[in-house]
Amino acid sequence: MTVLERVSGSLAVGGVPLDRAFAALQRLEPSAHGCYVYDLEQLEGRARRFRAAFAPLGAFSAFAFKANSLPAILECLRRSGMGGEAGSLGELELAEAAGFGPGDRLLNGNGRTLEEAEWVAGHGVHSVNADHVGELDLLQRAADREGRTVRVALRVNPGIVTSGHHYVATGREDAKFGVAPEEALAAWSARTRWPALQVDGVHIHVGSQLLDVGPLEQAVDTALSLADESQHRGAPLSLVNLGGGFGIDYSGGAGEFPLEDYAGRLARRVEARHGPEWVFEPGRWLTAPVGLLLCEVLWIKRRGGLRFVVLAAGMNDLLRPALYHARHRIVPVRPRPGPEEPATVVGPVCESADVFAEGEPLPPLEPGDLVALLDAGAYGATMASNYNGRGRLAELVVDRGRLTRARAGETPADLAARRREDVLEV
Ligand code: LLP
Repeated sequence: MTVLERVSGSLAVGGVPLDRAFAALQRLEPSAHGCYVYDLEQLEGRARRFRAAFAPLGAFSAFAFKANSLPAILECLRRSGMGGEAGSLGELELAEAAGFGPGDRLLNGNGRTLEEAEWVAGHGVHSVNADHVGELDLLQRAADREGRTVRVALRVNPGIVTSGHHYVATGREDAKFGVAPEEALAAWSARTRWPALQVDGVHIHVGSQLLDVGPLEQAVDTALSLADESQHRGAPLSLVNLGGGFGIDYSGGAGEFPLEDYAGRLARRVEARHGPEWVFEPGRWLTAPVGLLLCEVLWIKRRGGLRFVVLAAGMNDLLRPALYHARHRIVPVRPRPGPEEPATVVGPVCESADVFAEGEPLPPLEPGDLVALLDAGAYGATMASNYNGRGRLAELVVDRGRLTRARAGETPADLAARRREDVLEV
């Protein structure tokens, strides 16, 4: 969390001590050994800050559901004036269920399906980001059948290199996303081929966890020069979607993406232009710092000079460390007195990659103690799996001192209940 607070000696979220929150959850879920906890008041604050930064551009900002799709979070963001960015049929359904209206939701994704095309044509969206030109034919057929116009931005691969992990760099030339700029220009010029579509937008998302404005400014350069060129060819664009990517400081310092600086520069730069509509798709920046993963210490094991702290949460609950070598700060909920010593903090999953930290200075810990892994409110619960036969964890929200279980944890019985025997006729 950006702000670490303690209440009566316990780490707290939104004024609620986490040891008491966990005890309350265990009364509902006796076998719970961990859970996610989010602070809605902090979330509202971040949504306000994000919208204020881009207000001079009159931008439409759509929260990327892939970062966090808990309905309580989505509804809070909607009430705070954010739109919703869906990347699949499931997320479109979540958007509708959370009250995002047709003009407040948009669709991304590079594997467009007939069902998604029919959904957007039937239910309505602000816009669809098409990942390649063939997709336009699919959208055209669906929109035509429904008698509705669907607005489309073409995702362009700008060939922009970003720092950070290879897996979250989406703008490089060999990444799977988007079309080449020249192909996009040709499609905009030929847009009368798709009369049920309004193909008048450009979409560029260069990557995630960006900490400096460089790559995003390059994206603006690319988008504006494409818009100029398209206008020159007789096909003006009226929508520029610059995606997400705004990073946070996982070390807890002040190194997060300079949002206001970037937004200010952009506003000054486009002041003179006859404005297109601006769209942003923030994910991590909004929710990562407002959530944590709380779990018990199961065991302490010492071997060959190493202190292993075995947590009840593992890589199936928070995949980022195993997948990207990401590091989340680890904080004991009630630190015991005593000197800090290095610890190798691991989960219980049968994989050597199930490691949250190595050489982490931590005070003495005992089985049953609670620890929090911070900044886990984005790409935490949404990337959780049932690997190793493990149920996904409960998710709790705190809203001005009120604690709610917003999603129940899965029990072994829930997993067993998914068994089906359906004879399929072939
Ligand atoms: N728009 C598009 C088209 C995206 O693909 C993404 C994220 C976003 C917006 C939101 O990006 P953000 O503002 O959150 O950076 N699982 C990785 C991050 C993957 C990002 C996928 N796309 C992680 O845990 O770091």
